[in-house]
Amino acid sequence: MVNISVLVSGGGTNLQAIIDKIQTGDLAGAQIVQVISSREGVFALERAEKAGIKGKVVKDTESLLAELAAENTELVVLAGYMKVLEPAVIQAYRQRILNIHPSLIPKYCGKGFYGKRVHQAVIDAGETVSGATVHFVDEGVDTGEIILQRQVPVEPGDTADTLAARVLETEHVIFTEGIQKVIQQLEKKGGK
Ligand code: GAR
Repeated sequence: MVNISVLVSGGGTNLQAIIDKIQTGDLAGAQIVQVISSREGVFALERAEKAGIKGKVVKDTESLLAELAAENTELVVLAGYMKVLEPAVIQAYRQRILNIHPSLIPKYCGKGFYGKRVHQAVIDAGETVSGATVHFVDEGVDTGEIILQRQVPVEPGDTADTLAARVLETEHVIFTEGIQKVIQQLEKKGGK
């Protein structure tokens, strides 16, 4: 079993998708050992509690590293985590931190591109296709190696909200696929 710590900052629908797929056996060989939020009172923490998973609020890097180590974390999954991780965390979990981003990286990513802002920029540019990307996290913002990417159409009349909702459905599918892929790679390498 690969021990996953999921980091969140908000509603946690991606967290929920991962919880559900572990429960149904669609995501095999993994367990969520804790959910760590950068903020108090987010719905993602309620989702964790309901699923019987430990939830914590952690705000500084030293405590984050301590909590990750305390649960023998092997993979860190950023599921709507809105903070940029310090290099110390990246170094401790090199090629073991995954993020989901709601665009086709390298488009509409990097500093300032998060949440609704991404989708508004896609619409403002007149794009007909957007999508979602699962990637490893490195020291940059959305610059790490791409694990999986899938296109989503932009429909005429889309608002940032309608496009976000359509992209989110695809995120829920490809995030677990990406996690599964990384777990298989780890098992092959004997790193697990
Ligand atoms: C998701 O759309 C995710 O791709 C995005 O935040 C949302 C979180 O939703 N992440 C970023 O923009 C990171 N740069 P959720 O809390 O319902 O999973």
